[in-house]
Amino acid sequence: MHTSDAIKARRSVKRFTERAVTRAEIETLLEHATLAPNHKLNQPWRFYVLGPDARYAYGLALGARKAKKIEDPAAGAKLRETVGVEHRALPAMIAVAVVNTDNAEQREEDYAAAMMAVQNISLTAVTLGLGSHIKTGAIMNEPAARAAVGLPDDQRIVAVVNVGTPAEAVPAKKRDPAAAFTTWVP
Ligand SMILES: Cc1cc2nc3c(=O)[nH]c(=O)nc-3n(C[C@H](O)[C@H](O)[C@H](O)COP(=O)(O)O)c2cc1C
Repeated sequence: MHTSDAIKARRSVKRFTERAVTRAEIETLLEHATLAPNHKLNQPWRFYVLGPDARYAYGLALGARKAKKIEDPAAGAKLRETVGVEHRALPAMIAVAVVNTDNAEQREEDYAAAMMAVQNISLTAVTLGLGSHIKTGAIMNEPAARAAVGLPDDQRIVAVVNVGTPAEAVPAKKRDPAAAFTTWVP
């Protein structure tokens, strides 16, 4: 598949079929992730391929956050469990982390490189007939989420990428033309 076709076909996919993503497919996604540009060849990314127990634990952590907004404790507990079970059922879930540094410039560059790796995962998924969904948010810093991933203290999660076979065709979200954001500087 041409790169430009993969870019145009990529969508955030939220519903997947039950088909498992194979280890070989995940290895291809991650191999391409490591080909992303990265300043000084820092290779700041670390990938955590979550199995069912880890996905469930991550989902429980996310569900607990959502449940905080609910007054009824029983409804909150039910929501937490529902989100946990939903995550366990995902075909594949990859947490992308970076190694922390005190150097502000490097921190920014390493984050950028890791997100380029995430884009490589998303585009490679398209070429394999897979869909992906990038997820971020404060959950990534929650101790329970970090524990679910087994994250060392010197790393932080920058994205979680769900991967699987799309259960349905997802329509493209409308973008404004590039010209709307572009200044040609003489
Ligand atoms: C850095 C980043 C973080 C994102 N975080 C979330 C998220 O936490 N939850 C979510 O539902 N979608 C998340 N998305 C997906 C975007 O919402 C999605 O890309 C956007 O709606 C455009 O849709 P498309 O990807 O199908 O073109 C994230 C995307 C990026 C690039």
